[in-house]
Amino acid sequence: MIGRLNHVAIVVPDLAAATAVYAETLGAKVSAPLDLPDHGVTTVFVELPNTKIELLHPLDESSPIAGFLAKNPSGGMHHVCYEVDDIYAARDQLKAQGARVLGDGEPKPGAHGKPVLFLHPKDFAGTLVELEQV
Ligand code: CO
Repeated sequence: MIGRLNHVAIVVPDLAAATAVYAETLGAKVSAPLDLPDHGVTTVFVELPNTKIELLHPLDESSPIAGFLAKNPSGGMHHVCYEVDDIYAARDQLKAQGARVLGDGEPKPGAHGKPVLFLHPKDFAGTLVELEQV
């Protein structure tokens, strides 16, 4: 069902500092920051030859990742994103197998304007999983 690893997301306490680490210390290509009000985050994408790293910072106090940052003040790995061909077919197949889809279960436009869903970490080896239709 799942295809390529689209990105690994890392929550960071200071987006500019984390962007500088990737751009300057690690020498990677980074995007400009992008606010995603639907997801309550600001993102910067780090382009690697085989995948991407998504740096995430809360847009405000009500952000779903504000709690993550409170528990992990230095930041940390937040989720992995796998590509799927058909997000509705993937969701229905996963639900039929007992996996829990977060939120209202309906795909929402993600950071690339493509539909995404999140799956419960307890069903996937303790890791929050994002599915993105490509
Ligand atoms: Co993501």
